[in-house]
Amino acid sequence: MALLEVDDLHVSFQTPDGVVEAVRGLSFEVDDGQTLAIVGESGSGKSVATQTITGLTRGATVSGRARFKGTDLLHCSTEQLRQIRGAGIGMIFQDPLSSLHPYYRVGWQIVEMIRAHDRTVTKAQARRRAVELLGLVGIPAPENRVDDYPHQFSGGMRQRVMIAMAMALNPALLIADEPTTALDVTVQEQVLSVMGRLQEEFGTAIVLITHDLGIVAELSDEVVVMYAGTAMERASRRTIFYEHHHPYTEGLLGSLPRTGGTRERLTPIPGLPPSLIGLPDACPFAPRCGYAWSRCHEQAPPLSPVYSDPHHLSACWLPGQRDERAQARRRTQTGSGVRAA
Ligand SMILES: Nc1ncnc2c1ncn2[C@@H]1O[C@H](COP(=O)(O)OP(=O)(O)OP(=O)(O)O)[C@@H](O)[C@H]1O
Ligand code: SF4
Ligand SMILES: [Mg+2]
Repeated sequence: MALLEVDDLHVSFQTPDGVVEAVRGLSFEVDDGQTLAIVGESGSGKSVATQTITGLTRGATVSGRARFKGTDLLHCSTEQLRQIRGAGIGMIFQDPLSSLHPYYRVGWQIVEMIRAHDRTVTKAQARRRAVELLGLVGIPAPENRVDDYPHQFSGGMRQRVMIAMAMALNPALLIADEPTTALDVTVQEQVLSVMGRLQEEFGTAIVLITHDLGIVAELSDEVVVMYAGTAMERASRRTIFYEHHHPYTEGLLGSLPRTGGTRERLTPIPGLPPSLIGLPDACPFAPRCGYAWSRCHEQAPPLSPVYSDPHHLSACWLPGQRDERAQARRRTQTGSGVRAA
């Protein structure tokens, strides 16, 4: 059994304009100690999916299952979920100030976090642990900094404090939602290396949400490529980078910022993601896909194994076999259509 098993997750919001289907049948698994990256453009449902799993989505209609160590997080009590959040699953968000209280010293916040889950830990013990954690994430002179307020730390340091807090109860899983997007490149590297080091030391599994495929290349084992609320492709990192099947993955890789030197974008994917209200039964990527043909506009392709490989799933009508696929792509681009599926 995997540590986290998300199965057919649907999340929708009732809005004055209609029902927004933010997550549509998302499934993935995370094993102990593994890093799963969730990538996709803005609005693809990455945050809604992970926040729903941890019970942080308000006012949504939710269905499916999300089993963490066998407990279905979507159907457990608020108290059970509160216990699991923190002790079982730690969370880091893009903006640490939204999670750190501005009026309390960071050490106090870590102490409270520890004691909220285990009242048998004394304040002195929890404070020692807070100092130790701040040291572990690379805060210099942690015994002094423990009494500082969040605003006294730089952006990168605050993100490290968040990591310390998320790791305070030694969770089996860390969910990091764009943890370094707001930071400059050098600080990003430092924060990511702290996460990597802690993962090695404690064997923590990580769900890493990011726009940045450079980060995916560096840290992930498995990758879920999300588009319009659902997975377009799921595979190992190697497969995603070198043997991907889905045109959207190809598009994301084509728009990868150059690493080192300039950060200019290569070819961006043309067009915009679709509205999530009243999506037709069609491939959601069809309006932007250079290989689309009639079938793509008439029926949504299911996420299914590519060339019978159960570890490589793709939601695209293009053939699995590489040569056939290349031929099919040539045919669509010359306008003669595709017959193979
Ligand atoms: N409370 C809500 N009510 C209505 N729609 C919502 C609500 N929360 C999120 N959405 C919509 O759900 C979709 C998915 O949002 P989500 O925040 O998960 O995207 P994301 O992939 O995390 O994007 P980003 O990369 O910008 O963080 C978006 O279209 C968003 O507008
Ligand atoms: S199903 Fe068709 S439109 Fe969708 S990604 Fe594949 S080729 Fe493109
Ligand atoms: Mg998000």
